[in-house]
Amino acid sequence: MEAFILSEWLQQHFAPSDDSPAYHRLYRLICRAILEGRLAAGARLPSTRDLAAELGIARNTVLQVYDQLAEEGYVNAGVGRGTYVEDIRLDLLEPAIDADKDDPAAALAAAGHDLSHRGRRLVSGLGFSNRQAGAFMPGIPDVREFPLKTWSRIQNRQWRSGPWDLMRYAPAGGYGPLRQAISDYLGSVRSVRSTAQQVVMTTGIHQGIDVAARLLCDPGDTVWIEEPAYWGVRNLLTSSGLNLVPIRVDDEGIWPGEAERARPPRLIVVAPSHQYPLGMVMSLARRHMLLDYARQFSCWILEDDYDSEFRYDTRPLSSLQGMDEAGRVLYAGSFSKTLCPGLRVGFLVVPQTLAGAFADSVAELYREGNMMTHAVLADFIREGHLSSHIRRVRRRYAERRDCLIEEIRRHFGDALDVVGGEAGLHLILALPDGVDDTLVVRDALQENVVTRALSTYYTERENARPGLLLGYAGVTPDEIRPAFDTLARVIGAYL
Ligand SMILES: Cc1ncc(COP(=O)(O)O)c(C=O)c1O
Repeated sequence: MEAFILSEWLQQHFAPSDDSPAYHRLYRLICRAILEGRLAAGARLPSTRDLAAELGIARNTVLQVYDQLAEEGYVNAGVGRGTYVEDIRLDLLEPAIDADKDDPAAALAAAGHDLSHRGRRLVSGLGFSNRQAGAFMPGIPDVREFPLKTWSRIQNRQWRSGPWDLMRYAPAGGYGPLRQAISDYLGSVRSVRSTAQQVVMTTGIHQGIDVAARLLCDPGDTVWIEEPAYWGVRNLLTSSGLNLVPIRVDDEGIWPGEAERARPPRLIVVAPSHQYPLGMVMSLARRHMLLDYARQFSCWILEDDYDSEFRYDTRPLSSLQGMDEAGRVLYAGSFSKTLCPGLRVGFLVVPQTLAGAFADSVAELYREGNMMTHAVLADFIREGHLSSHIRRVRRRYAERRDCLIEEIRRHFGDALDVVGGEAGLHLILALPDGVDDTLVVRDALQENVVTRALSTYYTERENARPGLLLGYAGVTPDEIRPAFDTLARVIGAYL
């Protein structure tokens, strides 16, 4: 493939096709080159002086465009060290915005050029993928294991009974019996202390974080997130206009330094039962430290408990919420991993003092959720089907995890570390320092194997560890083996 030379391409496309000013045309063209992947992450832009001379425009115009691109996160610039393209995708999966090659104007509009500032920020950092199945997409349970028969039996029973109340707008907070069933279930399996009123139904943890950010923080407030962290957390909070401070994690979990502790945040988002993506469990000492700190400085803690049911070799740990005496913890849960993401049912357990405000606000913003699904789920939990489903798939996922580790050892012996294989739906295959994990992801994708690059989960990329997130829960051993043969070949080329 011919190397892409930005200045040549700009010269071909810069001629005005409308009466928009040079500034706009140049800005749009460079965005397009980045969004369409012509300019790769890390590529250096020409100097402002050279580009201005080549295009016959004022250097100030180029400077202004570069400043705007830097402000919007497309490039980063430092005095005297040039301007470089940022990695605007969290990974190299299919583009979230399918640029329409035949209609660049439509592609640009789709890419967000008519959006607000925060809208553009969100669009440029998207992490979701249209690929939601197959080896080794992380974070996906095996939906083929969904207990369809039991679910449809309960559903039919309810439909036959004339569920008129479920068809109306419902009380704020969601379907009462489901809130009660969740409160009871969490009390017994996660040591969460709550009443049904404290359980507020959401469409998943994403919505829970969004609502918490809206109700507890103002734009510009500081939020601590773990470093590395789930991209969803980062994007949700950034798009609420919050100031994210990444806090490093060690083997015991989040570990704020003295300088960070000196500036208490408004909100702290953690996944103490199973750090994402590295997989460690927050130690008891760290939990006490965090709870004391939150009490002392009136911070809120949002506990993301997205998949703690899947712990294979030891019992799941109890929640941070259950240890909280000061009412500072909001517990966010979801059925996306235990049942399936397509259900779109999750919940927040909020302190008593916030319960009314959260229930009413969720109803006001998003309505109270899908009552029919809530009602089926309430019976499904109360009749014990959720617990038995989890027990059954846990065994299956453990076998798949073992199969993947066996494959890793067969190909690489002990040369590559496996991190976080004790729990969850994915593990991390660490790569040697210096390997660009995003390139491995790109090459694997070309061979139809989906992975995610560990480095893209870091806010500060210069401290990132290279590695691959490999989801195993959604694929059988027969699917794992050939896919890992392919992946091993791709990885081998980088070792
Ligand atoms: C760390 C983490 N939190 C939360 C979620 C789930 O979000 P939701 O409940 O909105 O599906 C995920 C899903 O991938 C996740 O990895």
